[in-house]
Formats: sequence, structure tokens, C-alpha cells
Amino acid sequence: MHAPSADSDLLSLGQRYWLPVYRPRQLVLDRGKGSRLWDTQGREYIDFGAGIAVNALGHQDPDLMAALTEQAGKLWHASNVFYTAPPLKLAQALVEASAFAERVFLCNSGTEANEAAIKLVRKWASAQGRSADKRVIVTFRGSFHGRSMAAVTATAQPKYQEGYEPLPGGFRYVDFNDEAALADAMASGDVAAVMLEPVQGEGGVVPAKDGFLKAVRALCDQHEALLVLDEIQCGMGRTGHLFAHTHDGVTPDIVTLAKALGCGLPIGAMLAGPRVAEVMGFGAHGTTFGGNPLVTAVAGAGLAKIASPAIAANVQRQAKVLRDKLQALGDKHGGLFSQVRGRGLMLGAVLAERHAGKAGAMLDIAAANGLLVLQAGPDVLRLVPALNISDEECAEGLKRLDATLAQFVAESA
Ligand SMILES: Cc1ncc(COP(=O)(O)O)c(C=O)c1O
Repeated sequence: MHAPSADSDLLSLGQRYWLPVYRPRQLVLDRGKGSRLWDTQGREYIDFGAGIAVNALGHQDPDLMAALTEQAGKLWHASNVFYTAPPLKLAQALVEASAFAERVFLCNSGTEANEAAIKLVRKWASAQGRSADKRVIVTFRGSFHGRSMAAVTATAQPKYQEGYEPLPGGFRYVDFNDEAALADAMASGDVAAVMLEPVQGEGGVVPAKDGFLKAVRALCDQHEALLVLDEIQCGMGRTGHLFAHTHDGVTPDIVTLAKALGCGLPIGAMLAGPRVAEVMGFGAHGTTFGGNPLVTAVAGAGLAKIASPAIAANVQRQAKVLRDKLQALGDKHGGLFSQVRGRGLMLGAVLAERHAGKAGAMLDIAAANGLLVLQAGPDVLRLVPALNISDEECAEGLKRLDATLAQFVAESA
């Protein structure tokens, strides 16, 4: 067997063997420290993407490394046929950190957490004696909830659904931030739950407008429906609060988490409040790897750090720096951005109309300038750096962004 050495060998393996559902940038990352990454050629990058809002404490955080190596020397996996300490402690910590949850279901990804939430809604409605046609879940256009058949149906964006029909039934879509449209969609009394992201991520980094979540909660109460919040991208400290919905002052019935919960290891969680915590009994749901002790040992250590005032303070500080500078850089480079939006360290810069569709090209230029950023759709540059990014890393990343934007403008001329 030929052992790949140079990048081109590795890239050709991707082209030859992977199901071509991804289109990665043409570089091969090798190692990371803090908010810096290095590729196999030794080139260094500032990481403003954090593995799509996953590496909340950057790379090689010493406390996470210690938790991982300690647990790796003890026990990796035992299944849910037995108790192990790390998932028990993580569930307790999540419940205690939330203001609403009573029980937690641990799984392996955001999709799986949302799948559990969708199933819990249906089981709850069934236990209430509602017929199957009265268990509708309302979701919002521009949302992203994952890739399983139910989660992709909850995801109200045709591009993720095309070709996968027949889709599961019982979902209804409404425009995001449109309270009147939601009221209409719930008027017939067949809605069991409303599910939404407090800040839409993949849909372009769009926060719920002030008061919207409260209005959704009120409609849910009026129609005896559950409020399900997908905080997979916007939760875990990213907005400056451990839970994004704290900003909106609402109490949800179900919250899903993933991404930053594992700080880079695969995990998802569904948190259930008092109305639904006792609905699923023995055998109603499950997953082999959920609550794996190795992953939950790291997640527990990560949660303790992410929930600290020091991280919240850093998020506030760096968010202001990044937001102000994004705006200023957009202005400096000829009004490149029509809007800078988001909350905390979840920021989106919307490309001005004349540059619409070119976010991908901007990302390639950024990588060539030693900066890793993300897009959220074709028109939005997305920044979701580690929550503990330092002043120096932030400043260096912004310097490289300045160079990136200058090159982008020159190449677009
Ligand atoms: C808000 C939201 N929900 C769900 C998911 C799906 O999570 P996963 O990719 O871990 O299945 C994502 C992933 O981007 C997300 O951003």
C-alpha cells in the first residue's frame, strides 16, 4: 500500500475514497494549539471557525487534555447497560446549569439530539391522547436542524431536502421572526411543538428579534404546545450566556445541545423540562455510544470551564472587538458588507449585493492569507472562534482578514 506523504497524495485520497458530500478547502490540517492551526506543510492559520463552533476552548486546552488522558487510562466505553461516572456527572451539571431541565438524554451529535427531541414531542402528544394528525411540529424557514430524515424535514430549507422524498409528515414551516405567521400556523389547534434556533446558524447567522421568543412561548402556552430550542450552534456560552435563550428570558420545554458540548469530541444532549421529563420510559429510546465515558469526561471538564465568568467576560470583550472591526473593515474596503449581525461570538457579515454568492471565494483567499473562517450560505462570512480566543490571536486574525478583504476586492475588480 502506498503511504501518502505530500498534501497532494492526501487530497487525492479524499477525492478517490470519500463519498463526495463535502468540498473541503485544499489543505490538510495537522495540529492545533489555542486558536492557531498548522497544516501538513507547516503553514500556520488563525482559527476563526473553531471546527464550526465546536472547539469552544481552542485546541489542546490543558484541562481537556488532562480529562481525556485520565479517562483514557481508565475506561473508554461500557454501554448504557451499565452506569459509569462521567455521564452521570455531566447530566447533573447540565441540569443544574439550566434553569428548566430535569432530565438529560445523551447522544452523539446534534442531529441525534434533535431526533430525540422530535420523538419526545410526538410521544408527549401521544400520551396526551392527541391523534397523529394533531402532533404537528412548526419550524422556521432558514433553519438547520440536522441531516437525519426527521431532522432534515424539520430543516425548512429545500436544498437540504431535495431528492430525499418521501419526507416524514407532521411538519409545518413559517417565516422566521414572523409572529403573525406563527399565530396563523397554530390557529387550527393541531400543533404539538414549535422548534427553533434562538440564533439561526447555517441560515445566515440570524438572531431571533427581541421579543420573538417570548411571543413564541406565549403562543405555545395558548395552544398547549411545547417550545423546543435548538441551541446546538448558539448554545454553550457562544452568545455570552451558557444558554442562548437566557438572553430572551424564556423557559423552554426542551433544549438540544451538541457541537461545543464536546469541545471537539462527538456528543449531543437533549435537556427535558418538567412537562416532558417523565414521558419516555424504559426502552422508548436509546443509542449505543450516548454518554460514552471518554467523551463525557471531556465534556464535563469543558462545561465547567465554559460556564465560568472568565469565559463569559472574554466572549463579551472579543465579540465587541470582532464586531466593531468587521464593520470597520467592511467600510474600509468599499462597503463590502451590507450588515454585520449575530450575538456574542457568533457573527455574520453579509456581503453587499454586488458580491452576492462569493463567500466561498473569500474563504479561499482567507486560507491563503493564514486565516480560517466559515460561510453561512453563499452570502455570509461567519466568524465563530473559540470562546477563549486571546487578544493577540484576535488581533492577528483581524490583520489577516484585512489583507484577505483587500485581495478579495482587488480580485473582484
Ligand atoms: C443549529 C443546528 N442544529 C443541528 C445541527 C446538526 O448537528 P450535527 O451536525 O452534529 O448532526 C447543526 C449543525 O450544524 C446546527 O447548527
